[in-house]
Order: sequence, then structure tokens, then C-alpha cells
Amino acid sequence: MKTIDVCLSPELMHLYPVHDKTVVVVDVLRATSCMVTAFAHGAESITPFANLDACREMKLKGYITSGERDGKKVEGFDKGNSPFEYMSDDIQGLKIAFTTTNGTMAIEKSKGAKEVIIGSFLNLNAVAKYLLFNENNVLVVCAGWKGRVNLEDTLFAGALVEKLKDYLGPDCDAPLAARHLYNIAKSDMSKFLSESSHVKRLNKLNIHEDFEFCLSIDKYNKLPRLKNGVLVS
Ligand code: MLT
Repeated sequence: MKTIDVCLSPELMHLYPVHDKTVVVVDVLRATSCMVTAFAHGAESITPFANLDACREMKLKGYITSGERDGKKVEGFDKGNSPFEYMSDDIQGLKIAFTTTNGTMAIEKSKGAKEVIIGSFLNLNAVAKYLLFNENNVLVVCAGWKGRVNLEDTLFAGALVEKLKDYLGPDCDAPLAARHLYNIAKSDMSKFLSESSHVKRLNKLNIHEDFEFCLSIDKYNKLPRLKNGVLVS
């Protein structure tokens, strides 16, 4: 039986050999939800950057610059990190350079993996279906917040483990913990997450609707994957 494991913070990546694994990077609030939304609306590619200045420089090469620091749009960038900014017709065919506080950092740290795909509740089923027919063992990398564990990415990991439980065995206890947590939370994830740190942070920034949207399950049938450092769908 293939295995699935969950890395609860990018700071723990050194514990997980990934060269032979499919890594699913998740940052439910909101980086990977934005990426999936952008591809669902026709974006051509998303180049993720951990470094802000490297991302900014892509403007000179004709890219749209997108992202946030501490939840707020970066000054001078074309777009921020709300999924609603990636739904308009002008997304069609765009090449996007993207940098976020945690999500693009988690992608950067996953680059040694056999393959890297992007997960969110918005494309949960597309991710699960892909992993089912893929030959590799799986590691879900939760982006968390500045090295700390967060609840929403752990819930996504749990939802994936739950969906695949008859086909992929847990490689350690983190996938079991995530699955139990998801099963407790699934009837009302919004309520379950209401006290979580990033939801409070987003509420302070008056962006509660992003939170609700990012919890929508299977809104898009898209599977972003990293190819030569660039996300394509
Ligand atoms: C991140 O990558 O840290 C997040 O997407 C932060 C945010 O919600 O803007």
C-alpha cells in the first residue's frame, strides 16, 4: 500500500525525504486557494517566489506581480492574495509572479520532491483523484504561519487522508491526527476555525469573505503542478 504523511510546518521539512514523493503543498488561507482560482480562470502560469524582490523584478519581464506580506497586498504589486482578485476575465493567459508569507515559501522548500502539486479545499477532489492513480508515496506540506502550525492547512491534510484512507496508509501519526481533527470539524469548518490565528488575522483586515470562499469544497477541477520551477495546470 502507498503511504501518506503530513508535515505540519515547513520548518519540519528536514525530517522528510521527498526525492521519491509527490508533495502536496497547501496554504488554504489563502495562497494555494488563489493559485487554484487563477488557473480555473485561465491563468497561463504562476511562478512562485519566496523572495519579494525577486518577484518584483518579474514585472520587467512582462509578468503580473501578485502576493502579500502579513496578509496585506505588497505595495506596487498588481494583485494581492484574495481569491476574488483572480476571478475576472483579465486573468486569462496571464503569467503571474507570486510571493506570499508562507505559501510560496513552502513551495520553495518542497522543490527537491519528485513532484510538487498544489492543494486547497477548492480542488480537493482533483488532488485526491490524481494521488489515487499516481505511483508515488505522498507528503502533504502544510504552509502554516511563519514556521508555526495552523489549523486550516491541517484540516485540508486531514480531509485528504480521510478521502484516500482505503488506498494510502498513514506513514506516521500526523496524518492520523489530521484526519481525526477533520472528522471533528467537517460538519462546520467555518465555526471550527473561527478562533484560529489566521482567521482572526484576516478578520482584522476585514477580509472575512475570503475565509468562507476558501472553505468551499471542490469548486474547481484544476491541478496546478510545478514544472521546472513554474506552476502550470
Ligand atoms: C501566506 O502565504 O502566508 C498566506 O496566503 C497569507 C494570506 O492569507 O495572505
